[in-house]
Amino acid sequence: MFPRPKGDRVFPQLNSFALQAPGFYFAAMIQPSMPTADQLYLLGADQEAFHQKAALAARARFGNQVFVRGVVEVSNFCRENCAYCGMRRSNRSLNRFRADYEQIAELLIHHRPASMTDVNIQAGEDPVAVREVVLPLIQTLRRETDLGISVCLGSLNHSMYDDLKQAGTSIYVIKFEIANPKMYAAMESPGQFDQRIANICYLAKTGWRISSGFIAGLPRQTTDDLLANFTLAAQLPIDGCSVSPFIPGEETLLANEPMASLDLTLNCMAALRLMRPDWVIPSVSALNLAGAGNGYRRGLRTGANLVTINLTPADFRENYLLYKRNRFIMTEDRILNAIAAEDLEPSSQSLADFYAAQKVNGTVTFTPQAAASA
Ligand code: 5AD
Repeated sequence: MFPRPKGDRVFPQLNSFALQAPGFYFAAMIQPSMPTADQLYLLGADQEAFHQKAALAARARFGNQVFVRGVVEVSNFCRENCAYCGMRRSNRSLNRFRADYEQIAELLIHHRPASMTDVNIQAGEDPVAVREVVLPLIQTLRRETDLGISVCLGSLNHSMYDDLKQAGTSIYVIKFEIANPKMYAAMESPGQFDQRIANICYLAKTGWRISSGFIAGLPRQTTDDLLANFTLAAQLPIDGCSVSPFIPGEETLLANEPMASLDLTLNCMAALRLMRPDWVIPSVSALNLAGAGNGYRRGLRTGANLVTINLTPADFRENYLLYKRNRFIMTEDRILNAIAAEDLEPSSQSLADFYAAQKVNGTVTFTPQAAASA
């Protein structure tokens, strides 16, 4: 095991208003197996065995298939000011852009990689881009393609969430970022913690499938803080969860802080897979920053079952700044090579179709039609 951070302390109970509010429901009817603190710090042969167990759990559920999604980043305007994120509104050195929806539609309709079954439309928190770019893009894609469509657009008002669903998407990516409410506030994570959780609950109640996520290895994050991420994730009405390693972004308040340990991040991913064998868990591209070239493949080795090809046009990409300006771009080639090298296969079923064929809460069968009329 590698050393734990100093100053571990008891995590304040998850007593947020949103979690107790009427209407919140517990999606996880199964008893998830929660990670222990020790598991998060495994190394060597014990770590390998732990990851293998997680990978086997994924294969028992999903076979050797991984979902292949493309991402397009359509706006880097952001009204939030997260301490860790390069797109924070206080970063004045960024050229801000909004994409032209017709250009992105053309790319996705006529020039998308053959292996991708889904697209994730992503932006900073920018309601203008939702209206001017994302909604018309979804409508066009719905008309012209059978791509599964997910969106990652942050905390929006309810009517905007409803409009997005109405336009033809059914999967929302919304990370809770940090489960400790005090740390959430200190890091200026999006809006308020309780409101973020309430948004996740609203999306679930209105028929969205949700992928959430958290950041591992943030400065001053204790073991209890880390474990709280699992406790919260297990209580949320979500269908997938990501773990991103903290990367000290060049143009952020945390530029001089140490990068997250890749081992810690991978251990969190394995723990998440063992907690919820049924969840969709991505291998995120930042793993390659945390692990010089092989982090991504190691992510696939811990039971991840979703990969993302970056399709953002190059001239926009440089200014979609999460971490550093020279991003490691996951092209289709790199993705397919990583999948093949790990003895996995790209899924021909889209993530959207996979969800549509599943039951929600063991009772309601989810279909896009049902979601649209919910
Ligand atoms: N390190 C890790 N993850 C980050 N994100 C933003 N900045 C960082 C960083 N420095 C993640 C956040 C956010 C998403 C857009 O990117 O989780 O939700």
